[in-house]
Amino acid sequence: MNTVVYKPSKENIKICADLIRGGSTVAFPTETVYGLGANALDPTAVRKIYEAKGRPSDNPLIVHLADIKQLNEVAAEIPPLAYELMSAFTPGPLTLVFKKAPCIPDCVTGGLDTVAVRFPSHTVAAMLLRECGVPVCAPSANLSTRPSPTTAEHVLKDMNGRIPAILDGGQCDVGLESTIVDVSGGKPRLLRKGGIPAEALFPFTGPLETVESSEKALCPGMKYKHYSPEAEVYFSAFYDGMYETIAAEYDKLTASGKKVVIICLDINAPRYGTRNVYGAGRNFEDYAHNVFAYLRRADDEKYDAVIAEGVDSAGIGSALINRLIKSSGGKII
Ligand code: TXA
Ligand code: MG
Repeated sequence: MNTVVYKPSKENIKICADLIRGGSTVAFPTETVYGLGANALDPTAVRKIYEAKGRPSDNPLIVHLADIKQLNEVAAEIPPLAYELMSAFTPGPLTLVFKKAPCIPDCVTGGLDTVAVRFPSHTVAAMLLRECGVPVCAPSANLSTRPSPTTAEHVLKDMNGRIPAILDGGQCDVGLESTIVDVSGGKPRLLRKGGIPAEALFPFTGPLETVESSEKALCPGMKYKHYSPEAEVYFSAFYDGMYETIAAEYDKLTASGKKVVIICLDINAPRYGTRNVYGAGRNFEDYAHNVFAYLRRADDEKYDAVIAEGVDSAGIGSALINRLIKSSGGKII
């Protein structure tokens, strides 16, 4: 299959919407990461997503909608809390889990009786979804286990020849996936930390129960390897002495013959002297925006190991910590 990369003109968005309506898959930008979309009401199309990604089919997909008016078509029950959260945070990087409507096939939900829904704020995503007119289910557009794609080039690298089209909307703004809140039961539960910091939700939800592990594939990374480049990833805790610890680990790895790079805030780069660094930006938002791109770049540049600086757990920091811990497979220094 030939994979075509389209600039996001009106005409090209229409071509991509036609592909989705016709039962094909299309990768498209959102404000979090790139998604690989298909018509959520067409099981044959949905299966193409799992095939292209090499993803286990019990890992459920998020349904993307252009407009809150479509929510009734996919969700069976919409509790008042959901309306409050949607009016505060959507469109944007928040996914809500509802009891599902009968029209949503099992292959979208991994057999669960619930459906995850989000309304992306990215202009290209919103235009595409509006043009499609159908609910579009989309996981992140990476090969299963790889870091999520935040540029069209990342998608092409993983998906070239596996999907017909990629809409190129430049680099994603947030850089980490959406925050997932389950509102399908009595008490809301935080299923994944992401683009909306948990503490922003508390005024609406009260203290949120966080679901860290589950038998079922409730959330990415709970059950499967996730966010992993070829290089080994080491993640540092965030404390006063972390710079010395990171430098010592770097030197140890280098002495054993490995090519190593440190991901750090720009301001900290001088602390590492002549060691290789990727400057992640000025603050933790920049770090989140760049982190997946750097994990991929480390592979392109043939690094054997990446050491990622620790971050403060406030705001986007706690989602960033979550991704880096998973990506490191628990190698915390
Ligand atoms: O920001 C995002 O959410 C991106 C963009 C493309 O929208 N999408 C994304 O999809 O991160 P994915 O497939 O990589 O992660 C979605 C996760 C699933 O792995 C699953 O654990 C959870 O959402 N999920 C989906 N449906 C669910 C459900 N019914 N109940 C609980 N969790 C669900
Ligand atoms: Mg993913």
